[in-house]
Amino acid sequence: MQLFKDFFEPYGALQMIVRAGHILAGITWIGLLYFFNFVQTPAYAELTDGARSEALRKLTFRALWWFRYAALLTFVFGITMVGIYSNTKTGQPKYLEGLRGTAIMTGMLFGITMFLNVWGVIWRNQKIVIASAESVAGGGAANPEAAGAAKKAARASRCNTFFSVTMLFFMVFTAHNTFFKENTPSQGTIGYWIFVLIVWAFIEASALGFIGGLDSPFNKMAFDKHKNTLWGAFGLLVVVYLVGWELLLKP
Ligand code: HEM
Repeated sequence: MQLFKDFFEPYGALQMIVRAGHILAGITWIGLLYFFNFVQTPAYAELTDGARSEALRKLTFRALWWFRYAALLTFVFGITMVGIYSNTKTGQPKYLEGLRGTAIMTGMLFGITMFLNVWGVIWRNQKIVIASAESVAGGGAANPEAAGAAKKAARASRCNTFFSVTMLFFMVFTAHNTFFKENTPSQGTIGYWIFVLIVWAFIEASALGFIGGLDSPFNKMAFDKHKNTLWGAFGLLVVVYLVGWELLLKP
């Protein structure tokens, strides 16, 4: 059976199955992220308190289940692909080296940060918000920490939207670029990583409230309105690609 020929090799069937699973889980995750950011948040602003509470408990709660497990599967399949591709023969270029390695590590830097934001910030804080809404619906008291938790989750969610375009570009670029055919190393790799890491750390730290709080001027400008977040997401890609990849990395 052709399916089992070279099953564990980088171009074998396991890689194909894992890649398909990675893309399916990835589109489920990012699709729900965009639903939350572009549809749910503006709609919630127009709902009455009662309707919002019910939607939060019945709709958002379910959507968050798919969201966080899709994120987990995307991550697990992604790391599995790194494992499969690292299984190279002696003398062959190593997967995470050279231009292809730089491209996939850029995608993974943003992807893994987004995954940690989902489980470590968004879900942790949404649990508090949903539990508070449950308590109020059952005749109990609201949790005074719920509003602050909702804000933290909202900032991390917008930050993930901000990162998503650059993340996806570099993911797809790795497998389908037209610029590099071989795993050639580049002189500018260190400069590239210093630049990318500074930009990435600034946006993430700011969204977490570590630079001037959750309502810092940057956060208000980049994350308050979803349209700004979307412009920012494409702006980040242009900056990382033109300044980082073209000018500093000089492939
Ligand atoms: C969470 C961390 C992630 C890791 C560790 C990861 C890892 C990987 C790896 C190793 C590849 C293979 C690249 C190659 O062909 O050499 C890949 C490709 C890809 N990833 Fe991810 N990824 C992550 C997140 C995401 C997310 C969130 C999406 C959203 C849709 C995504 C979509 C894709 C796509 C579309 C490809 C290209 C598949 C193809 O062109 O055949 N990844 N990823």
